Amino acid sequence: MAIFLQASLLVLWLLSSSSENTCSAKETREGQYPHNHIVSVSSLLPSTVCNRSSKVLGTGYLELVHKHGPCSELKQGKANTPSWSEILLKDQARVHSINSRQRSYRNSDENHRLKQTESTTFLFSYDQSIGLGEYYAKVDIGTPGQSVYVILDTGSDITWIQCKPCSIQCFKQPGPIFDPSKSSSHTTLPCKSSGCNLLSASRPPHEQGCISDKCTYSSDYADGSFTHGFFVQDKLTFPSSDSKSKVIVNNYLLGCGQNNSNAGGPKIGVIGLSRAPISFVYQTAPKFKKYFSYCFPSDSSSTGYITFGEPDVLNNKHIKFTPIPTTPQQSQFYDVVVTGISVAGKQLPIKSSVFTRGSAVVDSGTVFTLLPPEAFAALRSAFRKEMARYKLLAAATTSSGIIIDRTCYDFSIYKTVVIPKISFFFEGGAELEVDAKGIFLSRDHGKEMCLAFTSTAEGDVAILGNIMQRSVQVVYDVDGGRVGFGPGSCT
Ligand SMILES: *[C@@H]1O[C@H](CO)[C@@H](O)[C@H](O)[C@H]1NC(C)=O
Ligand SMILES: *[C@@H]1O[C@H](CO)[C@@H](O)[C@H](O)[C@H]1NC(C)=O
Repeated sequence: MAIFLQASLLVLWLLSSSSENTCSAKETREGQYPHNHIVSVSSLLPSTVCNRSSKVLGTGYLELVHKHGPCSELKQGKANTPSWSEILLKDQARVHSINSRQRSYRNSDENHRLKQTESTTFLFSYDQSIGLGEYYAKVDIGTPGQSVYVILDTGSDITWIQCKPCSIQCFKQPGPIFDPSKSSSHTTLPCKSSGCNLLSASRPPHEQGCISDKCTYSSDYADGSFTHGFFVQDKLTFPSSDSKSKVIVNNYLLGCGQNNSNAGGPKIGVIGLSRAPISFVYQTAPKFKKYFSYCFPSDSSSTGYITFGEPDVLNNKHIKFTPIPTTPQQSQFYDVVVTGISVAGKQLPIKSSVFTRGSAVVDSGTVFTLLPPEAFAALRSAFRKEMARYKLLAAATTSSGIIIDRTCYDFSIYKTVVIPKISFFFEGGAELEVDAKGIFLSRDHGKEMCLAFTSTAEGDVAILGNIMQRSVQVVYDVDGGRVGFGPGSCT
């Protein structure tokens, strides 16, 4: 059997290489392969040189930098670049937390709200995960502004940073820790204030408490990291060389962490971009009208951006929108309804019930894309068929009890490769065509290029991860109840 398989693979390889040999170089251009990407193998690997986006953007814009890439100021070095198995572990925690929160939203009987309690310590809260937290931006907090690094996360609700005096503990972070005593605009919130009420009215995973009439918050992450501290108000500023276009948000509500641990978690603060009323999106509603858009760069050596309230993104005819389904118990994630997937221009044979049963979450913090088992099996099989001419390094890896089925290729003998295009279709006619660099995740420094798509556990929601969003402009329009996708290119 094994010999037969090898023999048939050899035949396939001979067939494909002979058909390639008969093509003249001219014919291997994109036009001949409308349903394929023709890419140079070296371009699939991130460069070691920082290539900043030169896109000129207006007010309400932040540059997004990959934490482990050459543009990073976080100086975590190459040694800290996460391995393939670390990425899988972080993703699993993230996926688990999205699913448990999604289920808790659906369960209308559950009431996780906590009463305000007088307590001598910061409270615990529900497990959550911000995943790898790969993309960060720099903002200024306080008056005068103190620069802090934050991860922008569509799956988080609150904003938090570490704060001096770190009365219990702070972890080592790049750059100085925010010092509230040096900010003239800093205010702690009394427990009966509206800001504190907003926190206590938010659904899990944030618990709110009270210490000597000061509002407290706590966030615990599934990976063991946590942040507990005072819930405060201060000025938030987007850095800009042009003082006229500087964005200033006064009285911004955020967590000022006094008991923080990063135990393998994110090593900086977070800005929550979910649809929760406490998130950045709602707090800045008067200014930014509750919509934002980002573009993740094509790889970790380039930079991307996020813009808030930029009118162009709602009027751009290249961006196609899909409605966020409304249900009585809707989640505060960004849900969309997938209607189909194509590989190399061919629709996959997936029963519509596979996707209509549950929606998919568009997420900034999950790396892989996870599809219902049936849909993933169809994608994998079509993809492998289209890639038959390349050496498949398939293997099933077990990681914390979950079997990850790998579809990896060794491209080392090629200069260019032909990769089938993958497109996702959504209710309302929106389409997301995955960029050539949004299909693979390199493993072992590029020795293997592995499909960045995998399967959910049975019954879990699908998640559209950040690799497949690379170079795509993604628009989140909360009041419009829709998410949009456009051919981006972040440059
Ligand atoms: C920098 O990025 C642009 C746009 O993605 C690309 O065209 C250019 O080749 C890149 N330069 C380097 C040195 O990688
Ligand atoms: C700090 O938080 C950790 C984790 O929740 C907790 O175990 C510890 O007791 C807290 N320390 C104090 C002094 O509150």
